[in-house]
Amino acid sequence: MRNFIIDTDTASDDAVALVMALRQPDIDVKAITVVAGNVPLSQGLQNALYTAELCCASVPVYAGCAKPLLRDLETAEIVHGDDGMGDIGLPLGGRQPAPGHAADVLRQAVNANAGDITLVTLGPLTNVALALLREPELASRVSRCVIMGGIGTGHGNVTPTAEFNIWVDPEAAKIVYESGMDITMVGWDISWQFVTFDADQADEIRGIGTPLAEFVIDIQKTLTEFSMRENALAGFDLPDPIVMAAAIDPSICQYERFRVDVTTGDGLARGITVVDRLGVTGREPNVDVAVSADRAAFVELLQRSVS
Ligand code: RIB
Ligand code: CA
Repeated sequence: MRNFIIDTDTASDDAVALVMALRQPDIDVKAITVVAGNVPLSQGLQNALYTAELCCASVPVYAGCAKPLLRDLETAEIVHGDDGMGDIGLPLGGRQPAPGHAADVLRQAVNANAGDITLVTLGPLTNVALALLREPELASRVSRCVIMGGIGTGHGNVTPTAEFNIWVDPEAAKIVYESGMDITMVGWDISWQFVTFDADQADEIRGIGTPLAEFVIDIQKTLTEFSMRENALAGFDLPDPIVMAAAIDPSICQYERFRVDVTTGDGLARGITVVDRLGVTGREPNVDVAVSADRAAFVELLQRSVS
């Protein structure tokens, strides 16, 4: 069994990533920790609890930070729906999280499985940064931290240069990227280039016909409308699931190691993952950056997860 911890701002693409991890027979998800991002913390919590229940998984779900370390929270209901799950009327309420704060749970789970635990982050890095501030030594005890965040190359989705998870809490991202953790970054460029689903491709997944197959597609309703209208995509893309796929099977993506720094300015200087491809900064490379992905292998893993 491989030990995972998943930190998420649970909305429609996060939920698919949770399904993929929870349905892997050789992965033991020790904890799901929730952070504010796509939706307020309370909604993200309910969405994670609902998804875990749908997977018949007895994984504990914990509440974390309700806002970034220093900045006001900026959410993305316009992208994922008011409930974050496509506003299709799912009963996303009334479930109870486990007691304890996510930052403490992250520390406890890493320390209990030091050297044998993968941390997958699917939202803003507030919880992870808080845990690292409290106990910097955690960085050497996490086997691998696989981050959905930033952009390896090309354009961002919040500003021309910034991706949502990093942009929401740039200070947290800076703390994490400079922590010394073994970081793999799968940026939004990988998602929109390799894992976008048009109507036919979505129907192929939904046509598997199981409740999970219908769930992972139906909750993308708002994301589809937004992606086609605002991001000029042929349908919805799945940023968190391709990151989870890379955590489950690293060979699904190809990587190059670069120095990556995060900007903490405002306006266009906010939340940029600056990838030093030529080594001009002379700073030690600190991130394995995904540069491509195997779409067929991803789709096969997704189909297996919902079959
Ligand atoms: O930029 C895409 C990321 O922001 C995804 O993790 C999505 O769920 C949102 O959190
Ligand atoms: Ca997310």
